[in-house]
Amino acid sequence: MRSTEYSATGAASGGSYMQTSNVFRRVTLVLAASSIVFLLGFDRQSGNDKGTDTDQMRIQKGFEVAPVPLNLEGKDRDLVGLGSYIVNSSGCTDCHTWPTWNPGGNPFLGQPEHMNTAVYLAGGRPFPAFPGVKSRNLTPDPNYGLPAGLTLQEFMDVMHHGQDQQNPGRILQVMPWPVFGKKTDYELRAIYEYLRAIPSLPNNYEKPSTR
Ligand code: HEC
Repeated sequence: MRSTEYSATGAASGGSYMQTSNVFRRVTLVLAASSIVFLLGFDRQSGNDKGTDTDQMRIQKGFEVAPVPLNLEGKDRDLVGLGSYIVNSSGCTDCHTWPTWNPGGNPFLGQPEHMNTAVYLAGGRPFPAFPGVKSRNLTPDPNYGLPAGLTLQEFMDVMHHGQDQQNPGRILQVMPWPVFGKKTDYELRAIYEYLRAIPSLPNNYEKPSTR
């Protein structure tokens, strides 16, 4: 009796096991098929990404995100676009455009984003922990069109070594040059070219920091 019971239970569970296993097999097939389709799609997509996430894509994005009109005359267009991409996606504007947002245009308050282009990259942001230090005007100087009035070589010295070109021997504070200075020379050159193309603005402060 026990064994019959046992085998009956066994048969019953065997039967339901068979059914389950058929369903299971079908589900597995469907899953396998769909994951192959997914993987093929994914592969194709990542192939696309590999083909398009190049300088050209960043250059195009750079032109899309530039918040000010650009003067491309006598500039290398690709470098300007790439420089815009880097400057506008790397935090330069957080410190060098002050106040950063127009009234009602602060995305941190859930408002539609409107950068304060009237002082775009014209400096002036104070840093209370560093009395006397203010971000500098990076726009092209009115006479020579040099970003922050710096030659390319001086700009490189700022970005690589934090050398304050206006106060020899002084090292720039707050400015994250040890971070940005690790970019390739090509990218730093692109930043410089972009800064040549933005509108020239007066300093958004009285005196540059000398501390
Ligand atoms: C965290 C804030 C901050 C960020 C982010 C920042 N800067 Fe600065 N930057 C400063 C400050 C502050 C100074 C002036 C520092 C001083 O006087 O000690 C400065 C100075 C400079 C100078 C020197 C200008 C001159 O007149 O000598 C250049 C060039 C510069 N920054 C470029 C950049 C670029 C390009 C970026 C983005 C890739 C950037 N900065 C991002 C804060 C910042």
